[in-house]
Amino acid sequence: MSPNGRNTRGNGRSVAVIGAGYVGLPSAATLAHFGHRVVLAEREPSRLAALRSGRMPIVEAGLDDLVADAVASGNLRFVESAVDAVAGAEFVFLCVPTPMSSDGSADLSYVEAAAKEIGSHLEPGSIVVNKSTVPVGSATMVEQVIGRADITVVSNPEFLREGTAVHDSLNPDRIVVGADDPQAAAKVGELFTSTGAPLIVTDATTSETIKYASNAFLATKLSFVNALAGLCEEVGADARDVLLGLGYDKRIGFEFLRPGPGWGGSCLPKDTRALLHTAQEAGYDFSLLAGAIASNDEQLERVVSKVVAACGGSLDGVAVAVWGLTFKANTDDRRDSPSLDVSYRLAGLGASVQAFDPTVDADEGDDDGGPEDLRGLDLRADPYEAATGARALVVLTEWDEFRWLDFSRVLAVMAEPNIVDARNLLDPAAVRRMGFSYTGIGRQ
Ligand code: NAD
Ligand code: UGA
Repeated sequence: MSPNGRNTRGNGRSVAVIGAGYVGLPSAATLAHFGHRVVLAEREPSRLAALRSGRMPIVEAGLDDLVADAVASGNLRFVESAVDAVAGAEFVFLCVPTPMSSDGSADLSYVEAAAKEIGSHLEPGSIVVNKSTVPVGSATMVEQVIGRADITVVSNPEFLREGTAVHDSLNPDRIVVGADDPQAAAKVGELFTSTGAPLIVTDATTSETIKYASNAFLATKLSFVNALAGLCEEVGADARDVLLGLGYDKRIGFEFLRPGPGWGGSCLPKDTRALLHTAQEAGYDFSLLAGAIASNDEQLERVVSKVVAACGGSLDGVAVAVWGLTFKANTDDRRDSPSLDVSYRLAGLGASVQAFDPTVDADEGDDDGGPEDLRGLDLRADPYEAATGARALVVLTEWDEFRWLDFSRVLAVMAEPNIVDARNLLDPAAVRRMGFSYTGIGRQ
């Protein structure tokens, strides 16, 4: 320990991370992997207990090994209180939620509360890093809440995707750091030197804007893809080939070109609305982004219409099987999931929704104590049980295991052999040969 109480062993720096969620946990483990000494604070008792007993509180490929190695190396430990985490830390990363407020803006109450909590406990001269997704002006807001001239706040937005968070954290496309003090920003950038990723050092406002711009661009790209798939259906073109034709153009690329039931998740929906809110506050008419959001709602509704059509025009009293409840495959996250949105729209039209997801325990929704977002769904223990007696089967999340099921068994248990494949996951020719009626997205 140095005289100021900081641990200065080796080249690694002392880092505190506040919040062990989908961002905080991979970020903390990655920083520890890079040789920094990390203390991760998580106040939610079940998440903390899981971590302390070596279990991962979220589904994320490779995270268990990364965390176990970091703990074994002595570079990562867990505490309950943010105040305990910041003792001796040169850098403090805020990875707390920024959900959507009722007016569409980002709810900064967790960020504000965390800043208040740690403010007077921060080491002199330490740097607070906003890794949570926060709108323009948030670095200044956190600085004001902390109210100390010796503390600098740096924006360092996170771009990882759920499901590939470990890969993305170890191999980021870029590191963005922004502060009104460029030296502080550069110091935060140095923590990630071993990634070899391009480093963009800019001011806080620009850095905060980069994060929202990235998510808004991705959402707009998907809205375009989904709308294009709708057009393909009308003119008889095959959206998959059309998108292949687009993707080979290097300026367009193949990533993020898969049509689906609409985009969702814990970030794209809230971040697009927050950016729209920022634009409105600034008096800027961002009609393109408003259109992308509206178009996403149309896509969800288009999927519902396909199910209604498959069931002969009405869902009243009709059993519908749903495969997949998470917002995409390879995660257990159901926040703002298009699958849930579509499921509840189907239920709203009178359908009885028999749902299966590999990350959901069928007993979870049985009573009022189950997760709120699953209430009203008839959760089933496996995909065949979900399909039993159903007049339509809707594939809503692209879990790979759905491809390899015994479709003759699915056919045998269904009341009518209708498949609506909102992820274009299945082989239309193969299931049609078996006797199913198949509807995909943007293809015949
Ligand atoms: P999350 O809800 O999974 O995790 C946040 C964690 O912070 C929770 O476990 C909560 O208990 C904990 N927490 C809150 N306040 C705390 C405090 N004062 N002390 C200790 N723990 C505290 O959220 P998330 O998905 O990790 O998102 C966090 C932020 O990162 C958001 O701003 C989000 O927009 C952004 N982001 C998320 C992703 C993603 O893929 N989920 C990607 C990039 C950016
Ligand atoms: C997204 C961004 O991709 C990350 O860069 C960002 O860091 C993160 O949000 C965030 O800010 O939280 P994530 O929410 O994990 O990551 O999910 P994505 O992989 O982007 O998927 C978002 C939605 O689009 C999902 O519903 C997914 O199914 C859908 N999607 C994605 C498609 O329908 N088609 C595609 O080709 C890709």
